[in-house]
Amino acid sequence: MSKPQTLLALNWKMNKTPSQAVAWARELLPSLPASSAVLAIMAPAIDLQGLSQTLQGSAVTIGAQDVSAHESGAYTGEISAAMLLDVGAKYAVVGHSERREYHAESSQVVAGKARAAKQAGLIPIICVGEGLEVRERGEHVAYTLDMLRESLAGLTIASADQIVIAYEPVWAIGTGKTATAADAEELAAAIRSALSGLLGEVGAGVQVLYGGSVKGSNIAEICGQPNVNGALVGGAALEVRSVLEMVNALV
Ligand code: 13P
Repeated sequence: MSKPQTLLALNWKMNKTPSQAVAWARELLPSLPASSAVLAIMAPAIDLQGLSQTLQGSAVTIGAQDVSAHESGAYTGEISAAMLLDVGAKYAVVGHSERREYHAESSQVVAGKARAAKQAGLIPIICVGEGLEVRERGEHVAYTLDMLRESLAGLTIASADQIVIAYEPVWAIGTGKTATAADAEELAAAIRSALSGLLGEVGAGVQVLYGGSVKGSNIAEICGQPNVNGALVGGAALEVRSVLEMVNALV
């Protein structure tokens, strides 16, 4: 199977006001080289409309960092997949470890969000990964695949491009500790083979990203692994300069 185009997904987390987001996109666009990678910005929901207008006509796409499991109705504070689509989002991150930890999101909740996103036509970027204790016990593969199975419950896909999986080992997020390219490949390969079991033949073609302290100096090696199809980047996604470093490393 040929490798899909590399996806460089930027997770801004809770950074950048709407006006900062627009200024950032205006700074990025003139310097963005033609690249083999697809760039997508996972922005705070309130930034999406302005970003969408600023990025119109460019190849840069946008997404949200979360989405409601519900379609519409009395869910105060929630944002539906239809609302995100309406402001131009293509993706929604679901099950990021920060939401699992600080908002007590179980894999059952994550699965509901993934289904709602996919149902509406957004591409859910479903995050899975183990903490340090699990890694030290050597149980990271089984743990992550269990989380994957639970987070995909009830989901079906007709083609491989309807979902994305991100493997993000929690101990590598924001810590400067990057998994080695071999660690990333080990899990990406395990996830890929589990996906075909869970989703049928199309599952094997799903894009699998790595996330955790990715930056310009390590992205090419990580994304060069046979089963790694891109990166989900936090800290290095905030400055235009470091995003350009990553894009250039992938050209
Ligand atoms: P860092 O790149 O800051 O480690 O964050 C990774 C992450 O959580 C992306 O979703």
